[in-house]
Amino acid sequence: MIFLKLGGSLITDKKQTETAQYSIIERLAFEIARACQANSDLQLVLGHGSGSFGHYAAAKHGTHMGASTRDDWLGFSNVWSAADRLNRLILDQLRAVGLSPVRFSPSSSAIASDGKLMHMSVEPIVRCLEAGLLPVVYGDVAFDRQRGSTILSTEQIFSYLAEQLKPQRLLFAGIEPGVYADYSVQSEIVPIISECNLQEINFSGPTGTDVTGGMAEKVRLTLEISRRLSSLEVRIFSGLETGTVENALAGGSPGTLILFGG
Ligand code: IPE
Repeated sequence: MIFLKLGGSLITDKKQTETAQYSIIERLAFEIARACQANSDLQLVLGHGSGSFGHYAAAKHGTHMGASTRDDWLGFSNVWSAADRLNRLILDQLRAVGLSPVRFSPSSSAIASDGKLMHMSVEPIVRCLEAGLLPVVYGDVAFDRQRGSTILSTEQIFSYLAEQLKPQRLLFAGIEPGVYADYSVQSEIVPIISECNLQEINFSGPTGTDVTGGMAEKVRLTLEISRRLSSLEVRIFSGLETGTVENALAGGSPGTLILFGG
């Protein structure tokens, strides 16, 4: 089983509010469809980020920090709606290339506590896979027992699902060729990250509007996942170059490999 995330930076223009990268989304949908056609045994859980849809709305309303007032909750609904609009675009594109996606909105089945995902329905996703369909999850708002509201990133959702579904590979396609050694200069890509060299990476650099913690938090979460599932292969790579996502789904090794215990 493979989990593939299409990062918000890849499928939207993070510099402009609610701007989808239509041609990239279309190409990625084709690549996923081709990979599924080439390997009918492929069990794939697809996830996608929210980019300039959910992140802009969440930053405006502070939904990741909690909700208590009427205004906060109206903001929660606005963020849900922005994330949902992007998800709709993706689902339509997946259907247009002949895939059969089924959406699993975290906001309707996940519960968080102090920003951490505590529970999410998994059996429907398992049954979706067994039926030969394509389950799709995405970064979304969630109700939080402590804060009222929070934002769950696709990484948090994958982390929770990975524990239950035990995928062999986790693929994160973004716009950067991998994880940079130093985000302030962004020149050298680290081929392998483990706990040994994690501290050497300088994550401080421009991240734009990202309420779920930017690359540092994403790498920290993926390390945490690979620590718990030691046979798991995690890769962070760019989906900008045509064929990379298809190739990664077929077993290719793009970008940075994240490994526990290396
Ligand atoms: C963010 O999800 C969700 C919202 C802001 C609603 P992600 O953290 O998975 O999205 P990207 O990849 O950073 O855009």
